[in-house]
Amino acid sequence: MSTLVIVESHFSNTWSIGEAIAGALPDATLLRVDNAPKRIDPSVELLILGAPTHAFTLSSSASRTSALERKTAGAQAARRGGFHASSIGLREWIAEASIPATTKVLAFDTCVAGAGTLFGQAAKKAVARLVANGVNAQYGSTFWVTGADQLRAEETERAAAWARGLTAEE
Ligand SMILES: Cc1cc2nc3c(=O)[nH]c(=O)nc-3n(C[C@H](O)[C@H](O)[C@H](O)COP(=O)(O)O)c2cc1C
Repeated sequence: MSTLVIVESHFSNTWSIGEAIAGALPDATLLRVDNAPKRIDPSVELLILGAPTHAFTLSSSASRTSALERKTAGAQAARRGGFHASSIGLREWIAEASIPATTKVLAFDTCVAGAGTLFGQAAKKAVARLVANGVNAQYGSTFWVTGADQLRAEETERAAAWARGLTAEE
């Protein structure tokens, strides 16, 4: 199954999950959202979209500016490590994307564990936008970070297991 994984990330957490997912699938390509094509080729059978939750939804220009100014341990570590934050968000990519009806789309996000997802989360907002655009999209999964914006240790293995489960479903 040909898979494309497209990820928005500012402190590397969602990117690390995308790497784990793409690494667990036999024929997967991982792209940053700001380098991803807007027109998805019909050969892509599974499209997996990942984004961090910002203010209970997908990032906006304002929240991405807040991310650049964030002083948490995770944000500072990503900057020290030279991680290059996404210059656009998944919201903007979706607005311009052309996705074949034959491509199955799953969205995942990262959220702060314990803050809960009661008020909203990026993946579900992404799915709502995609479905409104006529895309065959479903919520995939959520992966947890700490309140200091650091990916929880077990989450990359959980992401890989989730991805392996997707191929088992086929
Ligand atoms: C501006 C801003 C707003 C955020 N709002 C939320 C939120 O509403 N809920 C939540 O669970 N996490 C929130 N977070 C935390 C991020 O979702 C979390 O750090 C995420 O893992 C970042 O992923 P990234 O490293 O791929 O950018 C917010 C982070 C930023 C910078």
